[in-house]
Amino acid sequence: MEPYKIKVVEAIPFTTRAEREQALRAAGYNLFHVPATLVTIDLLTDSGTGAMSDRQWAGLMQGDESYAQARSFLAFETVVKRITGYRHVLPTHQGRAAENVLFSTVLKPGDRVPSNIHFDTTRANVEHNRAVAVDCVKDVAYDPLADVPFKGDLDLGKLDRVLAEAGRERIPLVMMTITNNSGGGQPVSLGNVREVSAWCRERGIPFFLDACRFAENAWFNKDRDPACAGMSIERIARAFFDLADGCTMSAKKDGLVNIGGFVACNDDGWATEVANALILMEGFLTYGGLAGRDLEAMARGLEEVLDERYLAHRIGQVRRLGERLLAAGVPILLPVGGHAVYLDARRFLPQLPQSAYPAQALTCALYVEGGVRAVEIGGLMFGTVDPATGAAQWPELELVRLAVPRRVYTDSHLDYVADVCTRLLEQRERVKGLRLVHRPPVLPHFTARLEPLA
Ligand code: F0G
Repeated sequence: MEPYKIKVVEAIPFTTRAEREQALRAAGYNLFHVPATLVTIDLLTDSGTGAMSDRQWAGLMQGDESYAQARSFLAFETVVKRITGYRHVLPTHQGRAAENVLFSTVLKPGDRVPSNIHFDTTRANVEHNRAVAVDCVKDVAYDPLADVPFKGDLDLGKLDRVLAEAGRERIPLVMMTITNNSGGGQPVSLGNVREVSAWCRERGIPFFLDACRFAENAWFNKDRDPACAGMSIERIARAFFDLADGCTMSAKKDGLVNIGGFVACNDDGWATEVANALILMEGFLTYGGLAGRDLEAMARGLEEVLDERYLAHRIGQVRRLGERLLAAGVPILLPVGGHAVYLDARRFLPQLPQSAYPAQALTCALYVEGGVRAVEIGGLMFGTVDPATGAAQWPELELVRLAVPRRVYTDSHLDYVADVCTRLLEQRERVKGLRLVHRPPVLPHFTARLEPLA
């Protein structure tokens, strides 16, 4: 059961099918443009959409708004240092700001940044600095049916190939995303991170974690790796941080806050340079684009997320949704991830070729069917055009992510979502493909516009 009770409630909107069809047309078949007031169950993202605890809300009142060295900053810094062990902690307003201040400091044009799979903003921030983001996840991650425990693990052979091709000087850092969001919210094993860490240390290459969902990742290790079974979540998380030299984090996930993030590291030189970028782009070192109250809420959220009862319920709730879908024959990516269930749009809509944006079409159909908002992780998000030939290049997977906000929806909300998916499956041949009418150059899925194929 939920290890909390509910003190405040918010009404959810109900709409008619005609209203939803109209809203979708007006939004250019892009759910990012549908007003939230017309969404019944919002599974667009688990980022910044969680419910804060009474302790966190109390922290907002107690936030210290001093410009420099506020008490709330010191509380935040103390918690982050305790959890990560890193010597330098710089707050940012969210994860991509942490990526921006780090990458704009340490990347040079032509550099390679390997990771298991870069999240879309991470990739975009690497590319914005004219470096190349290289995904090195094990091939099994691209098989939606492979039910393996640590599907976020990185393939060291691929790392060797990046090194052989680019040379040591061209790799300023290696990253790992825990859990691996773009590959299905899949956990990364401590053993794999140990190997990647050793590989980096042998070659003197800094190693960073994208730690957005570090606590969920630690929980999976406790659950699936006998060597971690007797360890606390905090101890397991610390083992991961100890193997890296720093991290970026969007606290909008496992920080249990609506806004906030940070970059942390051990290297004094990098910390100084990142601090200079931070002052320029985000704000002074002790607030980084946040209010004191946000720092206070983040400090408290980072402590709460380590609670094993909370994590067991959270990850169990997502798994329960996945199991209901499986039982109804809905094709999903296996195993179920930590923060989301991913529908496999290729198997859900086998009649649609990738050029008809099957995952986006499924996202739109879910909304029309039941007012459920999900997000496409497929050809719209990751499709590119070869600059030399003009040929379209499609990603391996066409997924629709049902991301579950933390502490927001109950199982009965998610049962409703499962029912909507099941109803849609029964009439899947009626779902039409889409055509792109506007594709912006950067992070296209946020502002693209589409229309149904005739
Ligand atoms: N890294 C990962 C793994 C993420 O999932 C995200 C955000 C970021 C970095 C960027 O953080 O949004 O605070 O700037 N993921 C959200 C999502 C947006 O829906 O998965 P941010």
